Amino acid sequence: MNKNFDSRPIGVFDSGVGGLTVLRAMLHAFPSEHFIYLGDTARVPYGTKSASTIERYSLQVTQHLLNRGVKALVAACNTASALGLDAIRNHCLIPAMGVIEPGCRAALRATTHGRIGIIGTRATVRSDAYRQTLISMDPSVTTVSYPCPLFVPLVEEGWFHHPATRLIVEETLAPLHQENLDTLILGCTHFPLLKSVIAEILGARIRLIDSSEAIVDEINQQLTTRIVPASPDQKGTLTCLVTDATERFLEVAGRIIHDLPIEHVEMIDL
Ligand code: DGL
Repeated sequence: MNKNFDSRPIGVFDSGVGGLTVLRAMLHAFPSEHFIYLGDTARVPYGTKSASTIERYSLQVTQHLLNRGVKALVAACNTASALGLDAIRNHCLIPAMGVIEPGCRAALRATTHGRIGIIGTRATVRSDAYRQTLISMDPSVTTVSYPCPLFVPLVEEGWFHHPATRLIVEETLAPLHQENLDTLILGCTHFPLLKSVIAEILGARIRLIDSSEAIVDEINQQLTTRIVPASPDQKGTLTCLVTDATERFLEVAGRIIHDLPIEHVEMIDL
């Protein structure tokens, strides 16, 4: 084996299909890497569950990916990143990344007046992880956090531009208008798919932070420091695992992301 390269896969997990938005960005950025994506479709959504349940699920998923020999782990799910990442890091020796820290760094780079909004699932907002991370990186910023529980099902139905979606986004985000935000973190895997509607409603003045883009920068850095990359001469592969309903996974995946090379999905038991 060439010690300069490591052909073991990178494990990426999410509560379901939403993490495919993050995976797509990674496949595009790292074409030589092998990826294993695990969607915990039997137990989605995580965003409505308690902190201890989300931590337990995240650890079970992590153990499965460790058993498959991954060299690094990415929690693509914001809810799992917010409530499971500390436990994951305590549990494994390989580098483990979530979307919160990269998302916060991107928001701090983007903000002009230090007024940053955060939207996510109820569990993510309740965890306070984004706010605490932002404040630890820059105590001078002001943050506002807002749960948007109805956005996830709208995206899963593929209703990106449906009039009902517009109405719900408008109604849900109405309280943010008075906050004078200059940056908004889309703190959920599904929300980047509503980016154009959110941008229309909030106005072009507010910069929208997409964690799928932010995590790519993070992995790029890690690939030059803590993770040994795969040989650039090889073509990466993708293995998809789900804990329930492979058909439904493929159906929703096809609806929300059209250009992913998913040929086969394997059903697993955690
Ligand atoms: N993947 C979740 C997140 O990013 C959204 C769906 C869920 O609630 O499980 O927070």
